[in-house]
Amino acid sequence: MAKKVTVRTIQKIKDNNEKFSMLTAYDYSTAKYIDEAGIDVILIGDSLAMTALGYETTHAIGVDEMKIFTKAVAKGVNHAMVVTDMPFLSYHTDVATAIKNCGEMIKLGANAVKIEGADEYIYEVIRRLVGCGIPVMGHVGFTPQFLNTIGGYNIQGKSFEAASDILFQCSRLEQAGVFSIVLEMVPEESAKYISENLTVPTISCGAGRYCTGQVIVCDDLFGKFSDFKPKFARRYGDMKSLILNCAKQFNEDVKNGSYPNDNEVFKLSEDELEQFKRHIC
Ligand code: KIV
Repeated sequence: MAKKVTVRTIQKIKDNNEKFSMLTAYDYSTAKYIDEAGIDVILIGDSLAMTALGYETTHAIGVDEMKIFTKAVAKGVNHAMVVTDMPFLSYHTDVATAIKNCGEMIKLGANAVKIEGADEYIYEVIRRLVGCGIPVMGHVGFTPQFLNTIGGYNIQGKSFEAASDILFQCSRLEQAGVFSIVLEMVPEESAKYISENLTVPTISCGAGRYCTGQVIVCDDLFGKFSDFKPKFARRYGDMKSLILNCAKQFNEDVKNGSYPNDNEVFKLSEDELEQFKRHIC
């Protein structure tokens, strides 16, 4: 069996100029197959608020919901590093609450947490989490939990000045002790500049080819989520059609009587059947 991916594995991959893969997963069986496929990092992304729970943004999901999905995913994984995305306002009010909420995810089987932002308060939160033995993945560039202050799904780091600002944020995260940083929706030249000036690996979520890791939301990869498709999300399957076809065929088979067939039912023994026959007029 392949060795468990840890923070050390992730750093070694960057140091060796290699690449790692990261996918989201929200349930036990998907996590199990993704792990079996050799994916290095599995993220219980708060994107599940939109893809699995049908919320309009990631804001509505809470710690209790993330705990359920963390538990399910962690049970399916042997090899990959399991990272839980901390939901909106679960680490913002004070450091003690942040430690409590993040610690809960580790107790449920996550190996690390991901938190968005890079201001001075977040620096302190990360420093303290790492001090407690909780590895932290940072997330800058476009940060969905800041959607309302950013003012839309806008690409970040579009000038040298803006990219330098992101690099400054990343350096602060690095000093705080993160083991990796997601760069979301950043032009690849900016992401390259940022990545080359950091020691920890960066993970591209629509940030081009020069990051150490690449992440995609699993529902986008499978072609399952169809409300919208980000430019950078490559579809490797058409799960929407698969689900539609299966459900349509089942609906037809139930209605035309071909489901269930003789192999799909439980049968009485001959003796019991005789008893039934005797009681049928
Ligand atoms: O919520 C999520 O799935 C994420 C990844 C896309 C990075 O944050």
